[in-house]
Amino acid sequence: MTPSIYVSAVVGLLMILGFVTFKSISSSNVLPGVPEFKGMPIFGAMPTYLREGMPALLGKLIAIGDDGISYANIVGNVLVSCHDPAMVREVHAMPDEVASREGDPGRMSWSPFWTLRRLIGNSLFNQVGPQINHPRNVFIREFNNTKANEAKFDTIKKIATDHANALTGDGTTADVDDIRYSADNFAIALWGETLYGNPDHHKGGKVLALSEKIITLAGEPWPSVWYSIALFFRLVTPGEPTRSEAKLRKGVSKVVEGNIQKLEAYEAANPDAPLKVIRSLSVATGGAKSGPLSVFASEFTNLNLFGGHHSIGLNVVWSLIELDKHPERRAKLMAEINSVDINDFTQLNSKMPYLDACIMEINRLHPTVHATLRVINKETTLTSGKTPIKLTPGMLIYLSYLHLHTSKEFWGPDADVFVPERFLGGRSKHQPFMSFGYGPRNCVGYKFATLAAKVYLVTLLSTYQLDVRDHDHEMKLGTLLETTKPVAVKVTRRS
Ligand code: HEM
Ligand SMILES: *[C@@H]1O[C@H](CO)[C@@H](O)[C@H](O)[C@H]1NC(C)=O
Repeated sequence: MTPSIYVSAVVGLLMILGFVTFKSISSSNVLPGVPEFKGMPIFGAMPTYLREGMPALLGKLIAIGDDGISYANIVGNVLVSCHDPAMVREVHAMPDEVASREGDPGRMSWSPFWTLRRLIGNSLFNQVGPQINHPRNVFIREFNNTKANEAKFDTIKKIATDHANALTGDGTTADVDDIRYSADNFAIALWGETLYGNPDHHKGGKVLALSEKIITLAGEPWPSVWYSIALFFRLVTPGEPTRSEAKLRKGVSKVVEGNIQKLEAYEAANPDAPLKVIRSLSVATGGAKSGPLSVFASEFTNLNLFGGHHSIGLNVVWSLIELDKHPERRAKLMAEINSVDINDFTQLNSKMPYLDACIMEINRLHPTVHATLRVINKETTLTSGKTPIKLTPGMLIYLSYLHLHTSKEFWGPDADVFVPERFLGGRSKHQPFMSFGYGPRNCVGYKFATLAAKVYLVTLLSTYQLDVRDHDHEMKLGTLLETTKPVAVKVTRRS
């Protein structure tokens, strides 16, 4: 397309979008009695969404919804924010037929899960219905089970030690420009080794670059906007990737193919060794002991490019930042580390209450997955609010974990301070904690993710004296909860 055609097309589309909005706004008061974020005439919340992104818009919705609910209109799409704990639980508990992450891919939608599916293909994230129970259980047995994780402990420990040592090489001290790379690469290498027997998975930076791109695109407004426009003009098949999305997907396939080759070489050389995890996931879902993976396992290879490393890495990074800001708490954790054998799975996993409390507190204060959403598929009534509220098909319900986790209303005046002690000796049921989701579609990797983060954190702390250079790190809300800038750390080997 030449630039002028391009510009006319955009102007024309904005007019159409404006008209659709106008029609939808003028037609009815969508949620009677619920506060509405109005934004601009005709365009509604669209300009805010495009300029500032979904997390910022969500913040504005939360600010006006005193009773735990509020909404905005974006070009015929109704965005509802539920930010009362009971309501958030109620929405999470809805079955897929009533509310799912993606909704109908043929309908104009701003769901990031919609973009995600086009980028990585099918995964457990977008699948719905009773047939997901089996794959969920396969995941849970592999990643959310103490025994299964114990079997992975030596691998986790070894990769953690290698990556910690790499920070200084042969030296005793180093200025690390950005510890985020080390944390992410630890997790990438861990997945590579665990799934395929490839501890070099992080080398060359390709996986990190790809996963960052996927994570960024999934959280940006524009892919959804362009896709909606293309759908409107029937330029794409609903749910199928655009040309540039297909290119990214090719990059993903290439990385996966390389790993599968490594896996097959490993299997040929070690016919009697225990199965690598991707192979056992495959066998548990109908695949053979060699050759092509089951559909389920193959879908997980793609999903793995998006989820699982950055989220684990961020836990470690935020822990280092907060521990550095609170030396007395770091000293308490160091005392615990020195009092147990951290090379023993049982001790690390279940005899370190202060470490557990620190990780819980990091997940409260800096929940990597800071929000999620559901698309309403079937009319339903929300009953946990002050008055019943009718939700209709196509509405997007945003659920902010970060809000629930940091609201002074639930956590007290020190809600925005790192205080692991609040998790010692149990926690009140009234304090909403959902960093791994809630209900029938909660996280299946909780225990593995937490174990991996704990092992790398403890390995770093026991190997080095760490000094985080800046103390003004802030949260940046993208798809995941990032830091606003690189996290520079000076590391000095303990003698
Ligand atoms: C710190 C790390 C992690 C965090 C904070 C996290 C958080 C979450 C959250 C909040 C959800 C629910 C989202 C929703 O309800 O829409 C979720 C779902 C999911 N997580 Fe995790 N996760 C982490 C690590 C992992 C790992 C390591 C795996 C790998 C096995 C994993 C696999 C999944 C899958 C497959 C789902 C979808 C489950 C379903 O739809 O039934 N996660 N995660
Ligand atoms: C994973 O294990 C944790 C801790 O035992 C539990 O609270 C959570 O519900 C489990 N998740 C799933 C999906 O089974």
